[in-house]
Amino acid sequence: MKKLPEIFKNNRQWVDEKLALDHDYFKKQAKEQHPAYLWIGCADSRVPANEITGLETGELFVHRNIANLVIHNDMSCLSVLQFAVEVLKVEHVIVCGHYGCGGVKAALGHQQFGLIDHWLRHIKDIYLKNAKQFVSIKEERKALDLLCELNVSQQVSNLCHNPIVQNAWQRNQPLSIHGWIYNLETGLLNDLNLCVSDPQEIAEIFRMNSE
Ligand code: CO
Repeated sequence: MKKLPEIFKNNRQWVDEKLALDHDYFKKQAKEQHPAYLWIGCADSRVPANEITGLETGELFVHRNIANLVIHNDMSCLSVLQFAVEVLKVEHVIVCGHYGCGGVKAALGHQQFGLIDHWLRHIKDIYLKNAKQFVSIKEERKALDLLCELNVSQQVSNLCHNPIVQNAWQRNQPLSIHGWIYNLETGLLNDLNLCVSDPQEIAEIFRMNSE
């Protein structure tokens, strides 16, 4: 018995729609991919990367995890980053957070959730680093919004400090790191104006020479 028949029905319908527009759609797709963008976003089911950016299959390389974190020793994220930058030669890496992020909200609280608490500790570090900004904020919602934005900012920095990105810059490979945030209530993306395209824009301590 076929499980989840509604999903297979959707898939068949999607295939038919693509083929109606271009008979060779999947033949072309199967040959190669040339995405210009790497998207690092939250795993939240309400933030589907291709849908909200209006990008087609093959146009967006995607990595998603809880609360869109770029952690220095996360082999999964680092492998995606290396492949995207060095093999696919994407020109833009976009970190996209979202307001109302459950991961960020959990990090603001004190309840234990098990294994995931280890992952979310990285967000508590961001809170502590920026603690002064939270002193005057009384509303929980505003504190959450601010931490969601600061989290994106920290992940943009983490990417810029990464040797994969710095080596690309030293090769004069065009590469920009962007920080965006998505609003679940409006469907709109907001650019947090954190774009970095050059190692001169990052703190000196993190600048590295290539081997
Ligand atoms: Co989230």
